[in-house]
Amino acid sequence: MRRLCLAIGLEHRADEVVEVVADLLGPAGTRGLAEPPLWRSDVADDHSPVEYSVAFEEDGSHTLRMLIECVAAAPGPRQNMAAALAALDRLAERYPLATDKFDEVRDLFLPEDPQGVFTLWFSFVVRSEGPPMVKVYLNPEVRGQAKADSLVRTALSRLGFTGSFDWILAHQPRPGSTLDRFSFFALDLEDTASARVKLYQSHFAATAAEAQSAAGAADAADTARVAEFTALVGGPGPFLRRPLVSSHTFLASDSARPKGYSLYVPVRDYVRDDAVALDRTRRALRSFGVDTAALERAVRAVTDRPLAEGVGLLAHVSLRMGPPRPGVTVYLSAEAYEVNRPSRARAGAA
Ligand code: TRP
Repeated sequence: MRRLCLAIGLEHRADEVVEVVADLLGPAGTRGLAEPPLWRSDVADDHSPVEYSVAFEEDGSHTLRMLIECVAAAPGPRQNMAAALAALDRLAERYPLATDKFDEVRDLFLPEDPQGVFTLWFSFVVRSEGPPMVKVYLNPEVRGQAKADSLVRTALSRLGFTGSFDWILAHQPRPGSTLDRFSFFALDLEDTASARVKLYQSHFAATAAEAQSAAGAADAADTARVAEFTALVGGPGPFLRRPLVSSHTFLASDSARPKGYSLYVPVRDYVRDDAVALDRTRRALRSFGVDTAALERAVRAVTDRPLAEGVGLLAHVSLRMGPPRPGVTVYLSAEAYEVNRPSRARAGAA
């Protein structure tokens, strides 16, 4: 993490990042890597409980984000949820977090007996200036897949976004099918005009055009740019392995319509190896006017292995459109436990 901070001009924040991430990781952070993972976290393919991402902003600056699952010493869905809530209390002592939105919906997403692959994840977001930002990710399928729609509808309306759920449903690529599934409900824990509520959908077995039709729901989305980005990073599709994911951003609840749209391409499933993934990512950054030098440095900060000898270091690449912060984000795996071997099958799927 120190190397990553240095790579993207955030070396002055490195001590703070290391301290907070160590706190959030808890027992998983001090465990030797020769031991198997304490918990089979879905944060990353090799079950590392942390994933890094670098956001390339339009003004040329960079943001570092760590997606983290708090793992309890004796892990389990309820135990990890309790560990995450305790970590949140510690974060709130250290930083001025606004938890009012979270408090509004937590009973929906934190049941006694959580189901699904995760209950509560955090991202810890560091920019050059100002306090870090904390975001919580909740699982729409935490009460089972069948309840996801009603959970999301209720949560949005409690937060004042009446009509937004119907708006999203009206723009689902394949209405009535279970191929478009709500995968995350996320909240910025800050009390500002740019604090977001984000709703993510995974589009299983979708073509680029199908995923793109979800973008139509957001005023800010330029569908031609979305199509160009998807093809540059993911190839022609259809996307039959890991799904394309879209997210809609809701800001102040003055309108049912989402203000921003992002598309996440799981590049690792559609390339043979990370050399190809990096090449495609470079091209995508260039075509959106972003300098690639920091990307090269960030990749080298995370691994020293030859890129063609594995796949999955670059996990997703996303395009963010509309307020509050348009740009491109690259998700980098820690590969703490394992490097996936290059795969011809993946290249074939692209
Ligand atoms: N590892 C999971 C996946 O790839 C969850 C995840 C981590 C994810 N980072 C992400 C999903 C970024 C979408 C975008 O599905």
